[in-house]
Amino acid sequence: MARQISLTQYLIEQQRKHGHIPQELRLLIEIVARACKRIAIAVNKGALGDVLGSAGSENVQGEVQKKLDIIANEVLIEANEWGGHLAAMASEEMDGIYVVPNRYPQGEYLLLFDPLDGSSNIDVNVSIGTIFSVLRKVGHSRGVSEEDFLQPGKQQAAAGYCVYGPQSMLVLTVGDGVAVFTLDRETGSWVLTQEQVRIPEDTKEFAINMSNMRHWAPPVKRYIDECLAGSTGPRGRDFNMRWVASMVADVHRILTRGGIFMYPWDQREPDKPGKLRLLYEANPMAFIVEQAGGAAVNGSERILDLKPGKLHERVAVALGSRNEVERIAAYHRQDA
Ligand code: AHG
Ligand code: MN
Ligand code: MN
Ligand code: MN
Repeated sequence: MARQISLTQYLIEQQRKHGHIPQELRLLIEIVARACKRIAIAVNKGALGDVLGSAGSENVQGEVQKKLDIIANEVLIEANEWGGHLAAMASEEMDGIYVVPNRYPQGEYLLLFDPLDGSSNIDVNVSIGTIFSVLRKVGHSRGVSEEDFLQPGKQQAAAGYCVYGPQSMLVLTVGDGVAVFTLDRETGSWVLTQEQVRIPEDTKEFAINMSNMRHWAPPVKRYIDECLAGSTGPRGRDFNMRWVASMVADVHRILTRGGIFMYPWDQREPDKPGKLRLLYEANPMAFIVEQAGGAAVNGSERILDLKPGKLHERVAVALGSRNEVERIAAYHRQDA
């Protein structure tokens, strides 16, 4: 059997090769990976671990919280607060930032996460995940505030997600390509199973919640109409549709075989740019997708260039195979 490379070994070798993974960042990634392992175990237990169903509360965005949303959030906080590598954390499931308590040393990094992505799929045994993003606290002011988190996504030091599916997988970028690790349940370690992932530039597969079609803006409607027209339409080929409704699972498919994922603005809530969260979902996924040769836009602008105005900011998203994303961006520019 070929020699197996663990996450620890991968990170140490990356550090030796390029020197761009400081020790604190390595510790941070390993701790997040360990937390994801604990979440994977809870997910796998399902009803036997009493982790299914609703918690009976709502988060700051007005979504009903599932038990696993809260469990995953707590696991990530507990795992990360004591290590000395973080100044603070922010999460989809918390109203404000979580500053590392002063009984622990404070580090320079900020960790942001969607602890459990795909909540509507928990109870139906369909793939769900965890998404995370790492920023450096810029400036040397004492203390930490929400303002420190409002950095454009291009400043991320690392980003990743874990997908809890038939296999649990961890997908990671530290700005030097994308690596994939598979959880070996017997040994409990994350084993490198793919390196330098590339998303094909072209695709015949799209992912969008079609039930919202009547609410979309004209450029999105045009793009999908052209896909649906198939081989006799302007695109000259048949397209296939896939929609898991867990962003992690849809993005993971795109990373594996190409495709385009969209969650666009829609006219029901004209003042809300989109459904997905810029800091916990769009930025980390955009970083990963770009590092794999794909692209990510909010319509006409690159997601990683956007300057967030607030912690729970939402954004429209189109990401995946480069040529398709560029086509959508062009349709948006033509429409402006
Ligand atoms: P979350 O479970 O973290 O709130 O995110 C759910 C998101 C995302 O995973 C997915 O792409 C989308 O919501 C699904 O939306 P629909 O309900 O419109 O299918
Ligand atoms: Mn949610
Ligand atoms: Mn989510
Ligand atoms: Mn979530």
